Amino acid sequence: MMHVPAFDLKRNYESVKSEIKEALDRVLDSQKFILGDEVEKFENEIASYLKVAYAIGCGSGTDALLLSLLALDVRDGDEVITTPYTFFATASSIVRLRARPVFVDIDPLTYNIDINKIEERITSRTKAVIVVHLFGQMAPIGKLELLLSEKSVHLIEDCAQSFGSWRKVNGEIKRCGTIGTFGCFSFYPTKNLGGYGDGGLMTTDVDVLAKRIRKLRSHGSLNDYIHEELGMNSRLDAIQAAILRCKLRHVDEWNKKRRIIAERYHLLFETHEITEFVKYPREMEGGYHVFNQYVIRCKKRDALIEHLNEHGVGTRIYYPLPLHLQPAFDSLGYKKGDFPEAEKLSQDCLALPMYPELMPEEQEYVVETMARFYRQ
Ligand SMILES: Cc1ncc(COP(=O)(O)O)c(C=O)c1O
Repeated sequence: MMHVPAFDLKRNYESVKSEIKEALDRVLDSQKFILGDEVEKFENEIASYLKVAYAIGCGSGTDALLLSLLALDVRDGDEVITTPYTFFATASSIVRLRARPVFVDIDPLTYNIDINKIEERITSRTKAVIVVHLFGQMAPIGKLELLLSEKSVHLIEDCAQSFGSWRKVNGEIKRCGTIGTFGCFSFYPTKNLGGYGDGGLMTTDVDVLAKRIRKLRSHGSLNDYIHEELGMNSRLDAIQAAILRCKLRHVDEWNKKRRIIAERYHLLFETHEITEFVKYPREMEGGYHVFNQYVIRCKKRDALIEHLNEHGVGTRIYYPLPLHLQPAFDSLGYKKGDFPEAEKLSQDCLALPMYPELMPEEQEYVVETMARFYRQ
């Protein structure tokens, strides 16, 4: 029996070990661990990779969302439109500020928020829309950005799962995190660009907002011990920045490998004749999916998971319960049936192993094991 884990970060580490060790030595020799030169260099490299004016590191992707909302003065009584189908942090950052997340159902093909349903949910209280580029694919936000700016509503892009993805907007390639007022990134270890601990970053082109974010991430202070407002302690470590600088040099090549792996899965579903049981993730025209996760929709999902487990194949469910049904959000008053597409997806989604180092023979084994299950 083969063992194919859902993730295998060790393989990735092996491929960059010597570079990482050199980078770590550099930081240890400097004995400068919080912000500083290494973080500034990383921020500049990200800003030039993404072609944005400012990139500002922080403690996590969750903090990036929270700091962005704080910088836009989102507070009690405000509404922020977002998807019910994402990681908890997207909506918890809204609720933490006592604002209300107004959920909009998803597009069942791409799993992203249904862009066409956003306008009807905008009210005089809407401060922002957080669009999540889920599983590595950018939502088509070009036109949405125009609509929102006419209504003075800010767009925040949650790019935690989509580093390096892009879409063509009016013929121009726009990477995720470069269209909205803010782009929010996570460097959680399993992300396409992942550190070796927590880390996050915000992007913006707006000078005053960049300055405010820098202040907010450091207790509301830009000068030693003078605090202009209440902020947070959310700074990027030099060690994470040094690791991420190494990985940034490889991330495009890794994303390409993920795309090849996704394509191979599609073909294997066809050659093993299981396409009536399994729907593979669709890439929208004009977009570049980076497959942070490879999420299929499948029949008899829970029995399939058990079968794959028994045969050494790791899987994950993203996500078993949409956000409007999470116990922590009971007080928001949403109920079952409010977002049927999100609810259906939570019942039949399944993430298969996906990482740049996954071998063709491992993929063959995964799909063959699935085919045996569906044929039995
Ligand atoms: C869509 C999304 N938003 C936000 C986050 C939060 O990022 P972090 O874990 O770095 O706080 C994550 C990470 O898991 C995520 O997947």
